[in-house]
Amino acid sequence: MPAIIDKIADALHLTKHSHNDSAPDAESPSTSAPQPAFDHNKVTVLFVLGGPGAGKGTQCANLVKDFDFCHLSAGDLLRAEQNREGSEYGEMIRRYIREGQIVPMEVTVKLLENAMRAALSENRPGEGWAAGKGRFLVDGFPRKMDQALKFDEDVCKSSLVLFFTTTEEEMLKRLLERAKTSGREDDNEESIRKRFRVYKEQTMPVIEHYSKQGKVATIDATASIEEVHEKAKAVVAQLFSGDVSRNVTA
Ligand code: C5P
Ligand code: MG
Repeated sequence: MPAIIDKIADALHLTKHSHNDSAPDAESPSTSAPQPAFDHNKVTVLFVLGGPGAGKGTQCANLVKDFDFCHLSAGDLLRAEQNREGSEYGEMIRRYIREGQIVPMEVTVKLLENAMRAALSENRPGEGWAAGKGRFLVDGFPRKMDQALKFDEDVCKSSLVLFFTTTEEEMLKRLLERAKTSGREDDNEESIRKRFRVYKEQTMPVIEHYSKQGKVATIDATASIEEVHEKAKAVVAQLFSGDVSRNVTA
């Protein structure tokens, strides 16, 4: 991962979007309209959303084992960049995360694109590569409409949104439990309340946007980890069998 992160600062200086025509999965550059960096017929991207503490990371870890996804957590990539020695964005990222605010999307989208490119260049079966296609779970993203539009247009059109829902009370309980060991600066009640507010105001419109496209699988995440996992697994299996063409609820 550090090698990937090292390439990012340079990439972020690009003023104009530049597609990597030499990437094996880049679409043909011959058309005049800009194309996403990755062809969604060759690379399957699932967004994983839900409030803070809904269990996104936990469920992603399970789905990785079931379906050989490469799991990319936007929050983890941002924290890695924040802690990378010499990062010019480290302090800015830290400030946004502590306040529960959404980091300017250029940073997050570029971190994800670079991580995807690195994973695909390795082509290792079982690590984000199955049945001749790339498979990504993009966790905690897109948290805001600008991220969603930018990613779909510049990086790769997503296939489905796994949307884990539960009550704020349950999420608060889980996050305060996690706080005992997570070491995360934003796992305190004040930051958590701010994250809930940002989630409602900025992330819910993203869910509505993809709902209109029939791309949302809503999964009740209140039950046990195992029960939620079974539901999520069934939805993803349906997707890979070519069976999800509208919003579903599990
Ligand atoms: O997903 P996670 O809870 O790890 O995210 C932690 C923080 O990282 C968010 O509260 C936000 O400040 C930042 N973030 C972001 N954009 C994303 C994902 C995370 O700004 N897509
Ligand atoms: Mg997480």
